[in-house]
Amino acid sequence: MPHNVVPAVVNVDLTGPRINRHIYGHFAEHLGRCIYGGFYVGEDSDIPNEGGIRLDVVEALRALDIPNLRWPGGCFADEYHWKDGIGPKADRPVMVNTHWGGVEENNHFGTHEFMALCELLGAEPYIAGNVGSGTVREMSEWVEYLTRDGDSPMVRLRKANGREEPWKVKYWGLGNEAWGCGGNMTAEHYANEARRYAVYSRSYGDNKLYKIAAGASDFDYHWTETLMKQLGHLGCQRANNSMYQAVSVHYYTIEGTWADKGAATEFDTDQYYTTMRKAARVDELLTGHANVMDCYDPTGEIGIVLDEWGTWWNVEPGTNPGFLYQQNTMRDALVASLHFDVFHRHADRLVMANIAQTVNVLQAMILTDPDSKALVLTPTYHVFAMNKGHQDADSLRVDLPEGAPGRDVDGEELRTVSVSASRKDGRVLFSLSNLDAEAAVEVELDLRGGAVGETASRILTAEALGAHNTPETPEAVAPREHEGVTRTERGLRVHLPAHSFVTVEAPLA
Ligand code: AHR
Repeated sequence: MPHNVVPAVVNVDLTGPRINRHIYGHFAEHLGRCIYGGFYVGEDSDIPNEGGIRLDVVEALRALDIPNLRWPGGCFADEYHWKDGIGPKADRPVMVNTHWGGVEENNHFGTHEFMALCELLGAEPYIAGNVGSGTVREMSEWVEYLTRDGDSPMVRLRKANGREEPWKVKYWGLGNEAWGCGGNMTAEHYANEARRYAVYSRSYGDNKLYKIAAGASDFDYHWTETLMKQLGHLGCQRANNSMYQAVSVHYYTIEGTWADKGAATEFDTDQYYTTMRKAARVDELLTGHANVMDCYDPTGEIGIVLDEWGTWWNVEPGTNPGFLYQQNTMRDALVASLHFDVFHRHADRLVMANIAQTVNVLQAMILTDPDSKALVLTPTYHVFAMNKGHQDADSLRVDLPEGAPGRDVDGEELRTVSVSASRKDGRVLFSLSNLDAEAAVEVELDLRGGAVGETASRILTAEALGAHNTPETPEAVAPREHEGVTRTERGLRVHLPAHSFVTVEAPLA
């Protein structure tokens, strides 16, 4: 086999854990132009909308089969008082969004608007409650308002605001980043708070809450261990569903430092590789947290929810530093494709992941232009689109040889070929990334236990790693048909140009 051909062994008849569709989840915070100007433009806008919700954004996200949307934060969640966001808009109090730009928040996008958005998207809501500055009663009443049927004070309030039927809300966050903007707590203190809030966040009727404890930052295994210990001591309570069912973790890919994170579009090859090395560490992160959890929960009942991930660059020059608005290039696309390969490998523990954030903030799917009101789909959007067939599919293990291409980046090895695969409804989907900035590579998919029929392949790449989409050039980075798949004795050979992402789909023969 020529040296630039990388064999990848896939047993198509040996399926692994199912890839939860919620791994392709999203996140919308009251931050910058994510909600206002992004998802929501108000009923009086000349942009086509339904109840103020931007319909072009809805259409683009529906095409991704977006499974869930986390809201209202982020840091904002621990400052949010839900009763300010219900009732006639003119009567809703104004607050200051202290975390994000110190701008005024008029609360025009509240609970009813969020639930309407989820209905339009066909996505499940994931609500993050306020533990940092709220009360147990406030959270308890929010659950009651949303999900209780019959007659009760909160049900009457909901009905007075025009909603007869309770909504279904399964995913419920017990705060956010309690170690930081969510209250600056110790792990031990928060673990007690999480239990207290969990007790009063009740499941009504057949709406069974899936409660997610606010988890660690990055590699803070002590935080996860503390949350798991609590469940260990109260194992029988876990079994009867009165505690939290998952712990979250946040991991951002930052090329530079928090003070100077690097520019989104201007970077050199070294900075590119550093970015990819840091992105690849999400594997170590998930392995580390899962190992801690295995000690306390060997049967894997408690899930990991990576409810914030993605790239974080310096804001675009001239934009509000508190709005976290950044462009999105081919580099971001490869960060996303690499994350998904890792997520697929961790499908046994990872029950959900939410990219930060869906529109106009951090590693967004969609950028809306404040002047022209045009909507731009980012390279990251296209990775989500090309990979959507993995949602709820059975993972397939992919083995690359020891000597697979790699390079030393800042003293650590970065594997430059990444592959994952899954199987659903008699079809197989392969995702392949070539992280090498300059060299093409061939991957030989050595298929065992079955063969595949006619293939359909798509590729996402661009001349430059910094290529990105704008209202003037919306398709500078867009998927196209890929001709680089050939049949071999062993399976399929896939040509991957430098810095490219390719999917290959085929029916099982
Ligand atoms: O996604 C932006 C912010 O990053 C979130 O509000 C917070 O949870 C995290 O620190």
